[in-house]
Amino acid sequence: MKVICTEQSQVLATRVAQALKTTVVDVKYSRFPDGEYYLLAGKIDDDMVIIGSVVDNDSLVQLMLLVDACDQATNHLVLPYMAYARQDKRFKPGEPISSRVVARALSQGVSEVMTVNIHEKGVLKSFTVPAQNLSLATDIGASIRTLKLNNPLILAPDEGAMDFAGQVASAGGWEYDHLTKTRLSGIEVKMAPKKLSAKSRSVIIVDDIISTGGTIATAAGMLFAQGARDVSAACVHGVFTGGAYARLMATGIRDVICSDTIERSCSTITAADQIARALRKNY
Ligand code: R5P
Repeated sequence: MKVICTEQSQVLATRVAQALKTTVVDVKYSRFPDGEYYLLAGKIDDDMVIIGSVVDNDSLVQLMLLVDACDQATNHLVLPYMAYARQDKRFKPGEPISSRVVARALSQGVSEVMTVNIHEKGVLKSFTVPAQNLSLATDIGASIRTLKLNNPLILAPDEGAMDFAGQVASAGGWEYDHLTKTRLSGIEVKMAPKKLSAKSRSVIIVDDIISTGGTIATAAGMLFAQGARDVSAACVHGVFTGGAYARLMATGIRDVICSDTIERSCSTITAADQIARALRKNY
């Protein structure tokens, strides 16, 4: 078994390969003069672990080309982050179910798929090959433990994220709760006041994705106003669109923690151990 990756997941793929005691196949990436992707993969093994986060349209195409380059192997696809997973249903007539489109496209040429904290687990059913989802909740919990906070309060930004917050909180036996949120537009989120005992507490808001940072920034502002001692944020997927990381830090948030499902210089948590463990279990 060898590992191969797109440009988006080089560090994570190398970590997975190290954990599996195997190597990463070299791939040369370039573009044709008209902007089309070209790639040339090195020697492929019979069993390949293909790792590539889909963060945008380019990375989706690159991943599809990579899978095709490995078409003589049995391919195990790891999708650390799957863009389009949030459009998991037709909210209005005329819309596509984008997650289904991506899932179907990425089922071609692979024998199985592994996702990490996919936004909606129902999307797994859209893959036409067996698909499983891994969770970094305990890894986030372990990372929070290293902050050595006194009796932190773990908060989900909405009720839907409560299970995730509960799993994170169980890593330290911490209390957890949730806020209520109303999305006003693509970039605006309103937090309705919720009965919280955030006063003089270190609060960690945990979410699967931080995209614009609007959810966390609004929640943090509310919590500061309620007398929280400090507020941090932890997520699996640090999308950080439009300068969200810097904007969040500028609000006075103590720390913003994310994993390497999207490789950032602030990625202090790795998904590699969970991925390697799951691959070892299957083979
Ligand atoms: C939504 O359901 C997700 O779990 C996140 O809360 C959301 O994607 C965060 O987006 P933003 O950072 O743009 O507020």
